[in-house]
Amino acid sequence: MLPVLVVHGGAGLIPKERVELSSSGVRSAARGGYTILQGGGSAMDAVVEAVTQLENNPAYNAGCGSVLNVKGEVEMDAIVMDGKTLASGAVSAVRNIANPVQLARLVMDKTSHLCLTAQGAGQFARAMGVIEVPEESLITDYARMRWKKNLAPDANPVESQMGKMGTVGAVAVDVEGNIACATSTGGMLNKMEGRVGDTACIGCGGYADNTVGAVSPTGHGEAIMKVTLARLILFHMEQGQSAEAASDLALATMKSRAGGLGGVVTVDPQGRWAARFSSRQMSWAAAQKDTLHYGLNAGEHFTQSIDDPH
Ligand code: GLY
Repeated sequence: MLPVLVVHGGAGLIPKERVELSSSGVRSAARGGYTILQGGGSAMDAVVEAVTQLENNPAYNAGCGSVLNVKGEVEMDAIVMDGKTLASGAVSAVRNIANPVQLARLVMDKTSHLCLTAQGAGQFARAMGVIEVPEESLITDYARMRWKKNLAPDANPVESQMGKMGTVGAVAVDVEGNIACATSTGGMLNKMEGRVGDTACIGCGGYADNTVGAVSPTGHGEAIMKVTLARLILFHMEQGQSAEAASDLALATMKSRAGGLGGVVTVDPQGRWAARFSSRQMSWAAAQKDTLHYGLNAGEHFTQSIDDPH
């Protein structure tokens, strides 16, 4: 089996001055996750590593770059899913955690549940020895500036549209043919306190099944939930569509039926992959064989050697 790892850094409209940051971060995370696959590691380890790197990068709406809720606080959602066993773990509205994706994995590995939320997720994190971090360490100046701007009565609708997007995620197939996905997000800018989006919901913010493939979505969470985007794509693949065609079909349904924009990274069991979006932009990168593929604007597809560190 030819292993592959595909990551995204969120669908939306990326300000010009952040385009390079956004592109270099996904390339670096794809390389980081792929190194695990090259060493014979599991798809689950690879997607968690890639998403952890993206959470630790303040350029993205996840972990330390999360957008703020209406009260100016950070509440994050994350999910992982193992395509071999259909095991899954998720956390929602979790606070003071640097890497929600790792907590989601602990939910999968250490509990009989699929999702823990808010204070309960926090208590579980403490019981697992996960270090609590001050909320300030998860808030960037950029996130605070956008929060303030969007509270203003004359908030710019373009900026507001950007707030509907974000999220980071990864899908992978390992040398044994096992498939996994992981997704993590700060959610929607100025969301209500306690709002849970697609990312924590199985079949919406992620799904992995060794017999069909895996998907990690990004975009307008409420719209993603209305069409159960990840599972809808896999349904189209079960009906014989390619990863790319299935992704496009489901994104079109999400736009026409739920009025939402977004993007996805998708793999099938043969290691064929797609990075597709209906939003203006989505930073993505895919590592396979000796090549790193990447892009950000519609139709863009650049390649470089996997060993090129830039
Ligand atoms: N897709 C991320 C969110 O809406 O929360």
